[in-house]
Amino acid sequence: MKIAVIGAGTMGSGIAQVAVSAGFQAVIISESEESAKEGMKRVALGFDKAISKKAATKEQKDAALSLLGCSGKMEDVSGSDIVIEAVPEDIELKKKVVAEAERHVSSAAIIATNTSSISIDALSKALKYPGRFLGLHFFNPAPVMKVIEMVRGESTTQETIDRARSFGERIGKTIVEVKDYPGFISNRLLMAFINESVNALDQGVATKEAIDTIAKLGFNHPMGPLELADFIGLDVCRDIMQAIYAQNKDPKFKPAPLLERLVAQGRRGRKSGHGFYDYA
Ligand SMILES: NC(=O)c1ccc[n+]([C@@H]2O[C@H](COP(=O)([O-])OP(=O)(O)OC[C@H]3O[C@@H](n4cnc5c(N)ncnc54)[C@H](O)[C@@H]3O)[C@@H](O)[C@H]2O)c1
Repeated sequence: MKIAVIGAGTMGSGIAQVAVSAGFQAVIISESEESAKEGMKRVALGFDKAISKKAATKEQKDAALSLLGCSGKMEDVSGSDIVIEAVPEDIELKKKVVAEAERHVSSAAIIATNTSSISIDALSKALKYPGRFLGLHFFNPAPVMKVIEMVRGESTTQETIDRARSFGERIGKTIVEVKDYPGFISNRLLMAFINESVNALDQGVATKEAIDTIAKLGFNHPMGPLELADFIGLDVCRDIMQAIYAQNKDPKFKPAPLLERLVAQGRRGRKSGHGFYDYA
């Protein structure tokens, strides 16, 4: 089986790492050769991290990387059995990418999206054969997190669901099936929690440290909501909230003004060195 991952960022590289770790051939496709190579570097770094935590060996890293390729051209998805797109959370971009990928794969190939919040039914409209399409929502970091939220669209066939489930199990994940509702389950819960935490911070109810400590020590969460937002990326959180709000108009998901201000200032969380916290 060959897997193509479109997008070479946080999620694309993580998903590619998972695929080659399980012995699948994989290719990372990005919008340029240079960006695809960056994705390969991220995968190598991901393995180094796993080795430092004794979760992988150097031999496993070398064997897995020998299964991985990269390209800046969409036609190199050809020959893939499963295509997983992980480009930015923008409906028009995702539609363009999945439609282009479909032109280069066989009619038997599955096409999946790693979207956090965009409707599977809306995206499937870009495809000639929407029955092959579904959501496979990996969590970050993909090599570490054990669950995939599998989203069934209205047109998704049972065969697609069964094959995707079997793939998920072969890469060692627990598959949880949900319906195509705004935010599915994961981000419906998480974004409401993060947005409310940001509003509480903005209202001066408590400091960021106090809010995060309550979640960690009171709810036994490994990270507080503001630390987690920094980890996900404040721009990514804002985009996910906007996408959910655009679909259901529920004010819970209207991005908090403080979140918008931080993103506008370039404070995008850990990846930019600053978010709610500083990471210099
Ligand atoms: N970051 C998270 O915690 C997380 C978790 C689960 C799901 N997601 C979802 O995964 C998707 C990707 O998120 P990310 O955090 O990896 O983003 P990212 O910004 O780290 O990576 C996006 C990648 O897409 C590439 N790209 C942009 N335009 C492209 C095009 N036209 N063709 C091919 N590649 C293109 C970029 O070069 C980049 O490598 C989004 O839909 C996001 O909502 C993110």
